[in-house]
Amino acid sequence: MKTDFSELTACAIEAATKAGEILRAGFGTHFRISSKEGRNNLVTEYDTKSENFILDFIKSKFPHHFFLAEESGESGTVASDEVQWVIDPLDGTVNFAHGIPIFSVSIAATLHGETLCGVVYQPILDELFVAEKGKGSFMNGKPLHVSSSHDITSSFLVTGFPYNIDSNPHYCLETFVDIVKQGIPVRRLGSAAMDLCYVACGRFDGFFEINLHPWDVAAGVLILSEAGGKITQYDQSDYSIFDHTILATNGLLHSPIAEILLANYRKFQSKK
Ligand code: IPD
Ligand code: CA
Ligand code: CA
Repeated sequence: MKTDFSELTACAIEAATKAGEILRAGFGTHFRISSKEGRNNLVTEYDTKSENFILDFIKSKFPHHFFLAEESGESGTVASDEVQWVIDPLDGTVNFAHGIPIFSVSIAATLHGETLCGVVYQPILDELFVAEKGKGSFMNGKPLHVSSSHDITSSFLVTGFPYNIDSNPHYCLETFVDIVKQGIPVRRLGSAAMDLCYVACGRFDGFFEINLHPWDVAAGVLILSEAGGKITQYDQSDYSIFDHTILATNGLLHSPIAEILLANYRKFQSKK
């Protein structure tokens, strides 16, 4: 299926695929790795190379736009009628640094707090996920739809853990154990952008995580929502990319998963 995307989306696609080529070339080679705040929160020279390329590329097309990018931060106070690009140049840095081929580039364009388009590119499998508000979402040009799984006991879920896991925020360890104990398979891929896209294309039925950043989720949330998915906070209230908890599902399993997440939170909170 061919969709006519806007100039913004076309720019995001080109930036993400070219940045993906940079990552693909660097993957498995020797490169500099250093630590950011928090143990095991790594940054490689390819995070920086990818981000510099993306920023230069978008600026060459849209010189007046603003940026919120993981490695260089916010490019100034956003004028209210101007686009802000939200960029994760390498989502899954820990995997990349250890030679695990699960990582992606994530680029979204936002206006007035709303995401207009989102692109996630996985360079090793050459999978390009694209969504534009109101136009559906696609992987390599094929329309995406969430799974139709409605029984939580046979569902397939994905999650992630924050870098400050040592303080066990939101009782995420107990929640994980509780779900796994019910026999529900839960994966931990290490790229939140991919987690969201994999729910969008029905590979997973649901995803939950805490303490993510806007650049981890901005593109993936639009891709999932355009594929018919549902995204809220753990308590099922409205979600924004600046929120602390995210529950993203095929819609059918949303309430049952939310119940487990909240029941755990309450249980451990009351034991404090
Ligand atoms: C990380 C990944 C991971 C999530 C972490 C993120 P990074 O992003 O999305 O899946 O669990 O919380 O920080 O650091 O590889 O860009
Ligand atoms: Ca990230
Ligand atoms: Ca990153």
